[in-house]
Amino acid sequence: MTPRAGVAFGNKSKTTEEAVPMKRSVSVWSMAGVLVAGIWSAQALAAPDVAKAESLMKKSGCNKCHALSAKKEGPPYKETAAKYKGKADAEQKLFTHLTTNPKVKVEGKEELHDSLKTKNDADVKNVVEYILTR
Ligand code: HEC
Repeated sequence: MTPRAGVAFGNKSKTTEEAVPMKRSVSVWSMAGVLVAGIWSAQALAAPDVAKAESLMKKSGCNKCHALSAKKEGPPYKETAAKYKGKADAEQKLFTHLTTNPKVKVEGKEELHDSLKTKNDADVKNVVEYILTR
């Protein structure tokens, strides 16, 4: 908006009148967004139901390749928690990892990673929270 901006700034009082309310409404909305995102992620990482998460992981066969702190075929949950610590997309990444059977390397061979044996998104989220809070 180079040439038109030059023209608009020629009329100083008009530009300020118009610019101020617009600027204010933008910042109110972005503040609301930050607030909502903050509340959501704070809630999302609130204490998971540990027993429920562990039982679903057991039922899904995750323990075959994962443990809390020991390295098996897959990384320990504590390592994954450390890897994603402070990352805004952590939950989304793990949710996708545990629902879409991505390709992973197991003993040098490509395999499809198992998904959690549930159709309930809230149960998957609970496991994601469990892993991220180890
Ligand atoms: C056959 C072995 C195997 C099974 C079963 C398995 N995983 Fe994995 N998992 C892996 C391997 C190997 C990786 C490492 C993938 C990589 O780093 O590319 C991995 C990675 C992961 C990660 C880290 C993903 C990331 O983005 O860093 C999580 C979390 C995870 N698995 C959870 C689970 C859960 C929960 C289950 C049960 C549904 C499960 N895994 C079942 C082998 C397995």
